[in-house]
Amino acid sequence: MHTIAILKEPDNENRVCFTPEAVQRMVSTMNTQVLVEERIGVRAGFSDKEYKEAGAVIASTADLYKNADILFSINPIYKGQELTGTKKFVGIYNMAFHPQRLNVYKKPDVSVFSLDMVPRTTKAQSMDVLSSMASISGYKAMIKAAEIYGSVIPMFTTAAGTLRPATVLVLGAGVAGLQAIATAKRLGAVVEAFDVRTAAGEEVRSLGAKFIEVEGSIENETAGGYAVEQTDDYMKKQKALLNEHISRASIVISTANIPGRKAPMLIDASTVENMAPGSVIVDLASEQGGNCELTQDERMIDHQGVKIVGSSYLSNQMPFASTRMLSNNYLSFYKHMMGLNGDTDSDPIMKGCKVIENGQVVHPALLKN
Ligand code: NAI
Repeated sequence: MHTIAILKEPDNENRVCFTPEAVQRMVSTMNTQVLVEERIGVRAGFSDKEYKEAGAVIASTADLYKNADILFSINPIYKGQELTGTKKFVGIYNMAFHPQRLNVYKKPDVSVFSLDMVPRTTKAQSMDVLSSMASISGYKAMIKAAEIYGSVIPMFTTAAGTLRPATVLVLGAGVAGLQAIATAKRLGAVVEAFDVRTAAGEEVRSLGAKFIEVEGSIENETAGGYAVEQTDDYMKKQKALLNEHISRASIVISTANIPGRKAPMLIDASTVENMAPGSVIVDLASEQGGNCELTQDERMIDHQGVKIVGSSYLSNQMPFASTRMLSNNYLSFYKHMMGLNGDTDSDPIMKGCKVIENGQVVHPALLKN
């Protein structure tokens, strides 16, 4: 029998990585004992009673570190507590962007799997935490922008006059961007989008939005569907064209990212100053430095009447939905892991997200640290 632990997240985290339903599946069908800390799920709508009824055992933090073989969390919350025996930590640790997070796990008998690094292959789709959280964040970005924006989103025709629909511009039409576009369309906005990947154009148009094209982007088939860094000339051309569209937009939702790199800078302060007061920018790339020069991570600022929200974790503000999706991703990963009988070397999914093995950094993307 395996013993797993669900660790308690920090106070600023509303999500939890397993629902009671997933716990019940692990206990009843996967020969697993589940230890949980008190109140792990309250902010996501789940009580201790529900976890207990699902078969979990409530235990102290020290007991979890002592008795569990696999310790699950979302955030990297291990602080160096005493461990007994071999431990596997599983979470969304984003260590490529925060390499200092590796240090505490460099202990003999400790291995770390970071789900943000699970290869985005068809087989691993059900474990893709980045896609599930990006789609919730994209949706929430549009809802948040609509709430902050000082006017209506669809066209309003009333006896007191007509209000024009909001123009929403989405920068970066990946998973979050496409969800933001779909949400903006449902709310009745006029929607435009831009991405350096030409393949994104078809997806944008299929959602009924206009795709802004800037010719001359670099695409690289070996990047696995992701964007790559662009030349300075291209970035200048792109900024000049985008400046016009951003100036006219009521709401800009920016999601542009390049894996492992700082987010591309797409919106200068001077461009923000051309926007009408009351406009809104939601910058989902803020943790990676932001797509807007004025973005402050995890804050909302007002620059000459334009509100700029910097947040890469809007999924945390929808913990009920996020937790259900994450729980399915984690359960799918756990099932996969159990099916391998401990062989994490030859399986591409485990190899792709194994960051530390027996205290040694093993992931090629992190070996330089
Ligand atoms: P991401 O979060 O890394 O980036 C978001 C978007 O920003 C991307 O669409 C990217 O092209 C765009 N971008 C980068 N630099 C830009 C710039 N200078 N200007 C404008 N846009 C820029 O990517 P995300 O959303 O995680 O995924 C992107 C793509 O990866 C998907 O559309 C898909 O092709 C592929 N993917 C494949 C999956 C699978 O096969 N299971 C799952 C998820 C994504």
